[in-house]
Amino acid sequence: MALPKDFLWGGAVAAHQLEGGYAEDGRGLSVSDVMTGGAHGVAREITDGVIEGKYYPNHKGIDFYHTYRDDIALFAEMGFRCFRTSISWSRIFPEGDEERPNEAGLRFYDDMFDCMLENGIQPVITLSHFEMPYGLAKKYGGWANRELIDLFVRYARVCFERYHEKVRYWMTFNEIGNQFNTANDIFGWTNSGVRFSQYDDPERMMYQCAHYEFVASALAVIEAHKIDPDLMIGCMVAAGPVYPRECRPADVLMANDAFHGTLFFSDVQARGTYPNWAKRMFDRNGWDLDITDEDLALLKQGAVDYIGFSYYMSHVVDSEAHADVSGSVESADEHMVPNPYLDATDWGWTIDPVGLRYMLKVFDERYDGMPQFIVENGIGMYEDLDENDTVEDDARISYLGGHIRELKRAVEEDGVNLIGYTPWGCIDVVSFTTGEYRKRYGFIYVDIQDGGEGTGRRLKKKSFEWYRRVIATNGEEV
Ligand code: BG6
Repeated sequence: MALPKDFLWGGAVAAHQLEGGYAEDGRGLSVSDVMTGGAHGVAREITDGVIEGKYYPNHKGIDFYHTYRDDIALFAEMGFRCFRTSISWSRIFPEGDEERPNEAGLRFYDDMFDCMLENGIQPVITLSHFEMPYGLAKKYGGWANRELIDLFVRYARVCFERYHEKVRYWMTFNEIGNQFNTANDIFGWTNSGVRFSQYDDPERMMYQCAHYEFVASALAVIEAHKIDPDLMIGCMVAAGPVYPRECRPADVLMANDAFHGTLFFSDVQARGTYPNWAKRMFDRNGWDLDITDEDLALLKQGAVDYIGFSYYMSHVVDSEAHADVSGSVESADEHMVPNPYLDATDWGWTIDPVGLRYMLKVFDERYDGMPQFIVENGIGMYEDLDENDTVEDDARISYLGGHIRELKRAVEEDGVNLIGYTPWGCIDVVSFTTGEYRKRYGFIYVDIQDGGEGTGRRLKKKSFEWYRRVIATNGEEV
């Protein structure tokens, strides 16, 4: 058995990391527009509005707002069958709570989707990828406020009505679980518009925000199916398997619990119910979360059509370790330790292709063969152009090749129902966690350096031709 003929090969990005044009055509500020540049090990600052003299890399991105036609032509040259990006919510509802959408913003995505379709590329769209309107964080306190449910559903409905003939695959919230990191506020800020460190009980608040997002997502699924029953609406979780460091039973138990960081979110969105362990945890902690019976019925009714997930790395826990994680971007868990059997990227992300197959099997077994879509995977690297104006990115070819071989095994040997694969940052973009340009993921090099200077030229890396072959042979030549 080979990969299905219509397997969705493509690439992935998010609006706030590449579009730029942050104040054009009526767009409002998003939460990412008030995050300064950072660096590896240097946290990005979240400022109160845009402050003159500070540097905000997302304001420029890679200027895709103006270059998308040429960039999409390059994706078509690689043979992309789909392209995952997001809609910048604040282009459509600049403050987030307007009654009517901004027509200029809607028109921009009409044109962009048309351009993709003319190039034989189907859009795969995330509604909220770390770029909710800043107005919703400022005026409403972000997703700590139940009122956001209606505002999100209004936005989702506008998008489904406008684009349902152009876009079939959607996701509601990007990496919805990637806010459970109390060591660094950018995760809660970008997901929920909330700085959890400012609350006495940050963990409780995170679960409350997540609950409102679950309900909003479920309502969006229900709305989408009313508008067009062919629409496929997925969740999007950051998938990170957790292994025990030793066969010490305490490590095994701890790994099970740490894996909840992924599975809690996929369980609620795919099954439409809260797992039993979570309900017990809420009770044990005495958390009086605002979860109504009506909410629970909606979760059930609005279960997703597929599991979308990002996969970058696996994790290891050691019940006897106590690492200093204060201020860490990577982990909030003092028990997380490096995996002695695996290498890591320059940013310390473990490279584990087999973990991808493991993840696919876990989801497949847990959700009974539900379709899956790997919507992010990739390696961030320091790269410079050589004298031939290219980058010999063999390490990327090896990373992606290893992961593609494992996803093929999952389909061919394990029978996993996988519909597509879109490597992250198919064109170099601004990094989310560090705000750097120098953390590059692309098949296409973009000449913009940290600080924002550079010509903006696009140049093909060695992996460009390699990925073109992978797609042309439907994954036979990796
Ligand atoms: C995921 C996000 O967390 O990982 C992307 O969905 C992000 O937005 C990607 O860019 C890679 O992270 P980083 O920090 O290397 O850009």
